[in-house]
Amino acid sequence: MYRQDTLIRSEEIQEMVQRLGKQITKDYEGKELLLIGALKGAFVFMADLVRAIELPLQVDFMAVSSYGSATKSTGVVKILKDCDTNIEGKHVIVVEDIIDTGLTMNKLLALLQTRNPASLALCSAFDKPSRRQVEVPLQYRGIEVPDQFIVGYGLDFDGKYRNLPEVCVLTEVVDE
Ligand code: IMP
Ligand code: MG
Repeated sequence: MYRQDTLIRSEEIQEMVQRLGKQITKDYEGKELLLIGALKGAFVFMADLVRAIELPLQVDFMAVSSYGSATKSTGVVKILKDCDTNIEGKHVIVVEDIIDTGLTMNKLLALLQTRNPASLALCSAFDKPSRRQVEVPLQYRGIEVPDQFIVGYGLDFDGKYRNLPEVCVLTEVVDE
C-alpha cells in the first residue's frame, strides 16, 4: 500500500503552465513551431501547454525509455516510437514531464540535433536538479522538486497515478 501526500497543488501547476506558455508565445512569434512530447509522461503537460501558447503550432510525440525498472536509470535510451514529422528547418521544443538524471533528454536532444532543426529547445514541467548526472539545456523550466519520487500530472509509478491532477509523493505504508 502507498500513501499519497500532495506536494504541488493543481492551481500551482496551472500557474506554471501559463507562465511557460506566455514565455514561449513571446519567444517564438513568427516562427514555425513544433512541439514534440515525450510519451507517456508528458501527455498531460503537453495538452495543457499547447492551450497556453497563442501561436500557430504543430504537435508530435516520441516514445523513449531509459529505465529498466521504475527508479533505476540504465543510461540506455531506446526510441520506442519516433516522431512522424520532418523536423528539418523547424523550431522544435521537446516537452518532457521531469528531468531527473538528464540522461534521457541528453540522448534525445543529440539525436534530434542530427536532423537539422532550425532551433531546438527543451521544456519540462518538473526538474529534479539534485539528481543530475549529465547537463541538459533546459530553456523552459516548470517547477523544481526535491529528491523524492513523485507521481501525478502524467508521472507514473508502475504505470499508475498519471491521472492525478496534482503532484504527490508516494510513501510505502507497511501493514502490521
Ligand atoms: P532521466 O533520464 O533520469 O532524466 O529520466 C527522466 C524520466 O524518468 C522521466 O521522463 C520520467 O519518466 C522518469 N522519472 C524521473 N523521476 C521521476 C519521478 O520522480 N516520478 C516518476 N517518474 C520519474
Ligand atoms: Mg518521461
